[in-house]
Amino acid sequence: MSENLIIEANASKEEKYATLLPQIEAVIDGEPDLIANMANVASMIQETFQFWWTGFYRVIDNILVLGPFQGPMACTRIKFGKGVCGTAWKESNTIVVPNVDEFPGHIACSSASKSEIVVPIKVNNEVVGVLDIDSEKLNTFDDTDRKWLEKVAVLLSAVYNS
Ligand code: SME
Repeated sequence: MSENLIIEANASKEEKYATLLPQIEAVIDGEPDLIANMANVASMIQETFQFWWTGFYRVIDNILVLGPFQGPMACTRIKFGKGVCGTAWKESNTIVVPNVDEFPGHIACSSASKSEIVVPIKVNNEVVGVLDIDSEKLNTFDDTDRKWLEKVAVLLSAVYNS
């Protein structure tokens, strides 16, 4: 396993994700521990993009429980249907929030967070966790983030099955 993450400094977002994804695949390959993999994935996304907060929540006993993350401390538990994370879980779909102040029920773990994307991780069509990324700028996330982060979620869902 490579110890240094390759980041193309002046590349587009699309190119950065294209460089990042195979590296995530390589790091996860052969490692069955979910927490270890989530920890590395949060770090790799954060190192590439320097978002405000990048991390995971796992569904444990029917509630989202904070998992590995990079960034400031965050809310520990989120109920089904609550906040952006709980809504992405309920709807079983990615949610892109251009302005968190306009999302009814957004849970403000940090007042610095301005926009957000939450991508569910699914096993056999059931949500088992979410990847949550916060930005301190408005309108940070779009369909490019959605496309690539959904690929990251698929890589992690395979770990649940390994
Ligand atoms: N804003 C999220 C809560 C998690 S933190 O952003 C890390 C939400 O509304 O679900």
